[in-house]
Amino acid sequence: MRTPLLKWPLLMGAAFVFTLSSVSRAQITKAEEDQRLGMESHVGKLTGHAKDGAMNYRRYCVGCHGELGDGNGENAQWIDPKPRDFELAIFKCRSTLTGTLPTDEDLFNTIGRGLDRSNMPPWNPLSAQMRADLVAYIKHFSPRWEKEKPGTPIQIPAEPEITADRVKAGRELFQKMECWKCHGVTGQANGPSAATLTDDLNRPILPFNFTEGSRPKCGSTDVDLYRIFMTGLDGTPMPSFADNIKPDEAWDMVFYLRSLEPESAATHKERDIAKQLGLKPVSPNP
Ligand code: HEC
Ligand code: HEC
Repeated sequence: MRTPLLKWPLLMGAAFVFTLSSVSRAQITKAEEDQRLGMESHVGKLTGHAKDGAMNYRRYCVGCHGELGDGNGENAQWIDPKPRDFELAIFKCRSTLTGTLPTDEDLFNTIGRGLDRSNMPPWNPLSAQMRADLVAYIKHFSPRWEKEKPGTPIQIPAEPEITADRVKAGRELFQKMECWKCHGVTGQANGPSAATLTDDLNRPILPFNFTEGSRPKCGSTDVDLYRIFMTGLDGTPMPSFADNIKPDEAWDMVFYLRSLEPESAATHKERDIAKQLGLKPVSPNP
């Protein structure tokens, strides 16, 4: 669900007031801070500069993500899930393998898209240059970006044609990989483990419900879905399956996930196939 627009003026106002009380950065020295502010991002032909992102960060992001980027902005107490702590440099939406840093483009896309079912709105009204500068500014909060290179994006083979065999194979994979343990046999986020899940910071977290027409946080195209379960959502119990699912089989999984979507969803083909096949939900006791 989207944040109702009405809330925005309130949150923006809060962010603005917060910037007036400038908080000094205790953890790192001035020299280190200056060095980090030299951080760049590269997105297509754009080069983002951290120092140019600082002002927009204070204007638009600080109310949630905090002056130090630690996720403790003054609105953080009111919202769930909590804003990301950028000092850790652990991100949900990545094209790169689990445990590695995302690419600049991943962060750029996330900022434009926002994170559905959270208070993180889409920032695509800001210009591409502003978003590239914000990517660099976000990176300046964590020393990881000075020591590590982003991971290599996974290779995604061209999307094959949807067939009955593929939807069926996807169902078998959903069973075998035990997606149902969290997501439930019908994809309703009610598997046996669902109620007990917590994120890396020990906060309760729910699996994604495939059946109610909401959009995944990290994108809703077929390619996005493919990338999501192959790279996992770092910092959450949603694992990476890149070591267990072969590239071509991953497409079967995408088609099966689509078949779980509600009538109102844009893609009908997979659901129609599942219906014709009389495909039953996977079984918790195979
Ligand atoms: C109203 C609060 C709010 C504001 C304002 C906000 N964010 Fe967020 N942001 C969040 C929340 C909440 C999350 C975590 C959502 C989740 O984990 O599902 C998040 C997560 C993120 C992430 C992590 C995505 C990932 O892959 O893990 C990035 C990057 C980000 N925000 C950037 C920004 C930038 C840049 C701005 C300012 C232009 C901004 N946010 C403003 C609430 C906010
Ligand atoms: C151990 C529990 C667990 C297992 C097993 C699991 N998931 Fe998840 N999954 C989650 C949780 C928790 C989330 C929600 C993360 C969030 O909202 O930040 C999630 C989210 C997702 C999302 C949506 C991500 C987004 O961007 O919002 C997809 C797609 C997904 N899972 C697919 C799968 C598939 C396919 C499998 C099996 C191959 C699987 N999951 C196995 C726990 C699990």
